[in-house]
Amino acid sequence: MTTLLLLNGPNLGILGRREPEIYGTDTLADIEKAVAAEVSGVGWDVLSLQHDSEGDLVRDIHRHHCDTVGAIVNPGALMIAGWSLRDALAAYPRPWIEVHLSNVWARERFRHESVIAPLASGVVAGLGPMGYRLAAAALLELVGAER
Ligand code: DQA
Repeated sequence: MTTLLLLNGPNLGILGRREPEIYGTDTLADIEKAVAAEVSGVGWDVLSLQHDSEGDLVRDIHRHHCDTVGAIVNPGALMIAGWSLRDALAAYPRPWIEVHLSNVWARERFRHESVIAPLASGVVAGLGPMGYRLAAAALLELVGAER
């Protein structure tokens, strides 16, 4: 089993043209490539899935809970009240890391609480696309340590 799940929630499919002053100009395809490059050295590949609806994300977590080594999850605004996403991740048996491109604590108050963060192995926020690469590097360590 050598597939890393890269899961992005609502509005992250339009990265590159979405409020570039906040989220930068990298597209999701750029981020996928960077994550793939980070893990290719150990022979992992990346399964990248993005959905605008919570149910689709939940279904993909169910579908891939057995065949992935770990996950990087940017829940987008579902961080705020995505309870079914939270419950799906609670049943995901591998390490996963929550990533936000922006520093959510430097933004509006409604972005300060994440319902999924207490379940994550770690959280990376505010480092732009680099955050995904750092999360991938961390998963290599975490999964390696578990073997
Ligand atoms: C985001 C932060 C969320 O508050 C926002 O709703 C997003 C993107 C980020 O990557 O910075 O959709 O998750």
